[in-house]
Amino acid sequence: MSVTTKSSESETARLIVDDHEILLPVVIGTEDERALIIDSLRKETGYITLDEGFVNTGSTTSSITFLDGEKGILRYRGYPIEQIAENCDFVETSYLLIYGKLPTESELRAFRESIRQHTMIHEDMRSFYNGFPKDAHPMAILSSVVGALSTFYQDSLDPRDARQVEISIHRLMAKLPTIAAYSYKKSFGQPFMYPQNHLNYCENFLRLMFAVPTREYEPDPVVVDALNLLLICHADHEQNCSTSTVRMVGSSNANLFASISAGICALWGPLHGGANEACINMLQQIVEDGGDVTKYVNMAKDKTSNFRLMGFGHRVYKNYDPRAKIIKRACDRLLERLKLDDPLFEVAQKLEEVALRDEYFVERKLYPNVDFYSGIMYRAMGLPTTMFTVLFAIGRLPGWIAHWVEMHQSPTKRIGRPRQIYTGPGLRNVVPISQRS
Ligand code: ACO
Repeated sequence: MSVTTKSSESETARLIVDDHEILLPVVIGTEDERALIIDSLRKETGYITLDEGFVNTGSTTSSITFLDGEKGILRYRGYPIEQIAENCDFVETSYLLIYGKLPTESELRAFRESIRQHTMIHEDMRSFYNGFPKDAHPMAILSSVVGALSTFYQDSLDPRDARQVEISIHRLMAKLPTIAAYSYKKSFGQPFMYPQNHLNYCENFLRLMFAVPTREYEPDPVVVDALNLLLICHADHEQNCSTSTVRMVGSSNANLFASISAGICALWGPLHGGANEACINMLQQIVEDGGDVTKYVNMAKDKTSNFRLMGFGHRVYKNYDPRAKIIKRACDRLLERLKLDDPLFEVAQKLEEVALRDEYFVERKLYPNVDFYSGIMYRAMGLPTTMFTVLFAIGRLPGWIAHWVEMHQSPTKRIGRPRQIYTGPGLRNVVPISQRS
């Protein structure tokens, strides 16, 4: 079997399978990334492609986010993440991702206003929280309650109705921080606070988390800025595990709330968004164990140890994750502004230094990812470890929404349904139970 490409006005690849030659159309992206369209392959040759973990498989074309893992580049709708982090806030970034353009002043004002109008959750929904155990993980609560939004908003579940989709988007953006903060309040029995419409998105979330009815609460602007930055850095990352989940679930025409709830579940895993919680637990363990980072780097290299450096490595980045660069600098700044000295930050920097000099990590191009330093910032902001992945979910929401909408707007949308190569037993007959060994 051989593959060659030939240049003409529209490129095609020539693929020879068992002496049968077929021409495969080539798709070329804005940044000259190339893909072979293989949907006719099975019909023409009897072969499918097999790519476990989708290491080399594009699931879609997309105009939302560009990332170049070799060069460490990340852009939302064409704008470098560094510029967005410097110039926009999270709601503005969300508008950019969802609607494809930076908003004008009036567009942004209207978007903020609409989100403000939807921040409360239904009073009956508040009572759900009574049913969860006190020690329930907030990610489990988050996915359940987001899924349950489809029971309260049955008027806006049709993915083919643009008006219904629009209202669901605004409801989700507005309510996710409220749902998230209540999962935290639930864990230690504090009363749930109502959102305040005069506050901005991040101020409101911090108030919902930390205010109590018995005293005034003023969000610290330093913390508000840090939260905005972290949410922006998490806002989209093209076809990652949770976004692909949202697209896959949505491809069956399941409603937006159901699709996002599934994405939250996918994000929870420690190999994905759950890595920020796992990373802080690892750093804590290293500090308690005397701070010997080399011991842990060696453990990560030992395949029998079952231990990996959490917050390190990435499927796509084979260079420093640009988000980790921004977050590391912001972490340094935040600790200084809050006059905090966190031993975990020191250990994290040492760990990075040792790992990046180690041949094992150099060879495999393993660098700190977005989850390596974000947890230290969350800690400095007073957020509990179990909420770290919840914060990731709040940040990722506009990206999930943008992808779900893009998929539904695509004229070539089809239900996601991969194939497989069956490797189980061949045909056999059922033996009566008395004759089975
Ligand atoms: N520590 C030690 N070794 C690692 C690490 C790590 N963190 N990450 C990868 N490796 C090694 C693997 O053992 C493998 O080695 P081998 O070639 O000798 O078998 C090689 O590097 C390639 O790793 P894979 O697991 O094949 O890479 P994959 O692309 O499938 O996985 C992942 C990427 C899941 C992110 C992985 O690097 C990892 O487990 N990292 C730790 C968890 C983490 O931080 N996840 C967050 C990712 S960012 C996000 O989702 C928001």
